[in-house]
Amino acid sequence: MGKINFKDQKIWITGASSGIGLAMAHSLAKVGAYLVISGRRQELLRSLKEDLIGLGSPGVDVVAFDLEHSAEVEAAVQEVRQLWGAPDILILSGGLSQRSLVIETELKVYRRLMEVDYMANVALSKAFLPQWQKDNRGHIVIISSLVGKIPTPYRSGYAAAKHALHGYFESLRAEHAHLKINIICPGFIHTQVSVNALTGDNSALGQMDRAQAEGMKAEVFTRKALRVIKANRALSLIGGKKVWGVHLYTFMPSIL
Ligand SMILES: NC(=O)c1ccc[n+]([C@@H]2O[C@H](COP(=O)([O-])OP(=O)(O)OC[C@H]3O[C@@H](n4cnc5c(N)ncnc54)[C@H](OP(=O)(O)O)[C@@H]3O)[C@@H](O)[C@H]2O)c1
Repeated sequence: MGKINFKDQKIWITGASSGIGLAMAHSLAKVGAYLVISGRRQELLRSLKEDLIGLGSPGVDVVAFDLEHSAEVEAAVQEVRQLWGAPDILILSGGLSQRSLVIETELKVYRRLMEVDYMANVALSKAFLPQWQKDNRGHIVIISSLVGKIPTPYRSGYAAAKHALHGYFESLRAEHAHLKINIICPGFIHTQVSVNALTGDNSALGQMDRAQAEGMKAEVFTRKALRVIKANRALSLIGGKKVWGVHLYTFMPSIL
């Protein structure tokens, strides 16, 4: 199978207003991809659209919506269907983390994390399956987390949602041989993820963790992630030394 060339590909990126999704949008614009960029912040996305066209994208559309609300997810799908039928590549980077112990976390936080980090991604990817099957194509990139592979304190709901993504997308891959599905697990990346992370009462943490502040630059992560997508790798762990924690947990869980 030949490597993917992103030029003129129609790529829908969720979470494009910040961090990893934003860095991906920049890189893909530079190589001439058509983009739909999503997040909740419409004004920000509108100004980003101009930047992306300036960088070289031949066409950018903004579809702003909230991953937490299924009616908005469905409406966003309809907008993209009207634009393109189905995207060539769907990059699922929109997401929300957590910083709270189980004992202090309200159930609504677990429900919200499940909607945003898991259910919305199921709905978005499932919506295009019939068209992709008809065309014998389809490519989904899931930005999971190393926390999708290993248990992590303060992130129980986030870890559960990310683990669920692996179960769902690996099963989907087993059912649809024509689909390219790349699950990418970042370690600590320097983005707003900890600032936006939910605490036990459903409010945002509002501060940058040291691990994120000292983490890999989103641009460096994106360079590596785009190589993974081009090579159509099923699963990849990108995140410096923390990746070894996953290997240790896989082979010697009691030590971790
Ligand atoms: N940074 C890390 O260390 C790290 C590590 C492992 C995995 N990840 C994963 O990487 C992905 C991207 O996160 P990031 O690090 O780039 O964090 P970020 O800077 O906080 O960006 C998160 C993105 O998700 C969007 N988003 C959040 N909640 C949303 C909602 N309810 N509806 C629609 N969009 C929503 C945000 O857009 P709006 O605010 O405009 O809605 C934003 O564009 C996430 O799935 C995260 O779990 C990150």
